[in-house]
Amino acid sequence: MSANIVGIGTRKVTLLGNPVLRKVLRKLKPDEIRSEEIRRLVQEMAVTMDEYDGVGVAGNQVGEDLSVFVMGLPKGTKRHPDGIELTVVFNPVIKPIGDEFEEDWEGCLSVPDLRGKVRRHSKLELTGHGLDGKPFKRTYEGFPARVVQHETDHLNGLVYLDRMDGLKTLSYMSEIGRRG
Ligand code: NI
Repeated sequence: MSANIVGIGTRKVTLLGNPVLRKVLRKLKPDEIRSEEIRRLVQEMAVTMDEYDGVGVAGNQVGEDLSVFVMGLPKGTKRHPDGIELTVVFNPVIKPIGDEFEEDWEGCLSVPDLRGKVRRHSKLELTGHGLDGKPFKRTYEGFPARVVQHETDHLNGLVYLDRMDGLKTLSYMSEIGRRG
């Protein structure tokens, strides 16, 4: 899909320790969202996500101080058989729905090889702006809701390690024997 777009390259993913991962990222105005530069950036983010086998990529993970994330997962994978539709959200804001939480493994392209258990809201409403610069609003539940929370955290300078209840579940992926 996105990987076939001519001239769109993979970005190098920033790693924990890079200050950009600790920044609260700059929000974009609708006019800026519709610009050619931003269109190209989100294409590169989608290609990078594919290349690194990720489920989501945030602006600061490709070194940009911009409040945007891309998420997506093909159907039929072990991680989440239903898949996640390729989605781009600018200036995302989360509103939890209900008071249910789920704990599950998370990993991050900026923290390679590790996984840790994180408690997240089970259901939420996500608002922001879409690729066309218009308001975006959708509800998510379960695994996609987890991804939305993980990516939105990035845009506020947080990584999943900050959300763990202690580090006792922090594990090398190779030891857990699963790819989640
Ligand atoms: Ni991440």
